[in-house]
Amino acid sequence: MARPTSTYVCQACGARSRQFFGRCSACGQWNTLVEQREPAADGRRRRPAAGEPEAAAPGRPRRSEPIEAVGDRPLQRLPSGYGELDRVLGGGLVPGSLVLVGGDPGIGKSTLLLQCARAMAASSSVLYVSAEESAQQVTLRWRRLREQAEGCGGPPEAPPQPAHPREEAERSAPPAAPGLRLLAETDLELVLEELEALRPAVAIIDSIQALHDGALASAPGSVSQVRECAAVLQRLAKRQHTALLLVGHVTKEGLLAGPKVLEHLVDAVLTFEGDRFASHRLLRAVKNRFGATHELGVFEMGGGGLAEVTNPSALFLGAEGPGTGTIVACEGTRPLVVELQALVSPTSYASPRRSTTGLAANRLHQILAVLEKHLALPLSRFDCYLAVAGGLEVEEPAADLGVAAAVVASYRDLTLPAGTVLVGELGLGGQLRPVGQLELRLQEAARLGFRRAVVPRGSGLGAVAGRLGLQLLEAATVAEALVLALGAHAAADGL
Ligand code: TYD
Ligand code: MG
Repeated sequence: MARPTSTYVCQACGARSRQFFGRCSACGQWNTLVEQREPAADGRRRRPAAGEPEAAAPGRPRRSEPIEAVGDRPLQRLPSGYGELDRVLGGGLVPGSLVLVGGDPGIGKSTLLLQCARAMAASSSVLYVSAEESAQQVTLRWRRLREQAEGCGGPPEAPPQPAHPREEAERSAPPAAPGLRLLAETDLELVLEELEALRPAVAIIDSIQALHDGALASAPGSVSQVRECAAVLQRLAKRQHTALLLVGHVTKEGLLAGPKVLEHLVDAVLTFEGDRFASHRLLRAVKNRFGATHELGVFEMGGGGLAEVTNPSALFLGAEGPGTGTIVACEGTRPLVVELQALVSPTSYASPRRSTTGLAANRLHQILAVLEKHLALPLSRFDCYLAVAGGLEVEEPAADLGVAAAVVASYRDLTLPAGTVLVGELGLGGQLRPVGQLELRLQEAARLGFRRAVVPRGSGLGAVAGRLGLQLLEAATVAEALVLALGAHAAADGL
């Protein structure tokens, strides 16, 4: 009989060792090594034996081939039923791929994937594995979503069929079209059996942290469990060309729970985020082997579940007033017109307060320092609050000029002329630096009815702006840009 083998796995970083140490040699943390039985030793069926053709998908050669020949096979994609998700995925789900969808609890991951499952089931076989919620809970949500969809004119559909293998055997005639099937199970072995029996085109695992591999002693959700479950599922997905969508939890530090290797293992990592007090939700690709990252999908959570937002700029625009500036941010290839609001008021503290929502605080500090130095504004005696409307996070420096304009407008109690957008990065010397994708940004501003755009000098887009009906105001410095943006106000105010 083969000797049972043990491995010690660090619960913090996932490193493996044959020997026990008090301190992990990979990450340096103490008391994180946990003994685990090597699952390969128990000879389970799902572990392909040496030589078993696990990666040999039908029609796929197992030998190397010229790279040009590989390119000849077009990448098939399954539409998810939601254009916003398809764009973030790079055009749809790729068969045999693994997609990890992460997000805070209650943000709407299960709702999004159940809705996608419902849409995809119209043309493909879909298995929804609910490891967190009972079949009744999922069905209840499903019915509610269906009622809302029917209320909006959607086609009526049959509820998902329980897909437990035992029930499957009891049924006399299996349904002709598998459609959407539901399995409420946490045992990895049973999930694998069902996946092998059904061979669905798409499978959704909600969530990977709730799955449990009985061969490992550690608790569900631990690093080794998550990694092992994901690795086994990936092998199966590749073997039978099933597109797998895994739901992953986010830790309180904001990272996807589980070891970093999980992110390396999967083909795409999507994050679903949003302000829990606002109704819109943003879907982003952090990693994508089949498309670009930083693409953005926008949804809105309502009584009938998640609805796509095809004109998201409208979400991030408010009423213009004193202390607001409008920018055009770019999320991937998607331009978004966003309103920034600033409040500048005399401080009653020894050191003035600075607070930001949706923008890095350091960026605000830097812009305030530039304004103080180059426009001689005594901002160090003023509190300054800055917020991005709609709870969006704006990271790119192209927002600098908009921030500066909002701050100056609030300080002077001015309203920028209606229909003005500002785009530009601020250098420490007060100069305006060019930004990328300016043409795309101008197109979006024009589409939403903006008529003036203040941009860094040398854009070379005068003709484009003319065609779009935009007045293009080019400036070399922040002072020049603010004078152009504020127009008559600036002259009257001596800016
Ligand atoms: P859920 O998909 O369960 O979140 P997650 O799987 O990410 O934990 O979403 C739960 C939240 O969504 C809950 O707070 C209620 C809200 N919700 C709606 O507002 N409308 C709906 O139609 C549904 C299904 C959920
Ligand atoms: Mg959930």
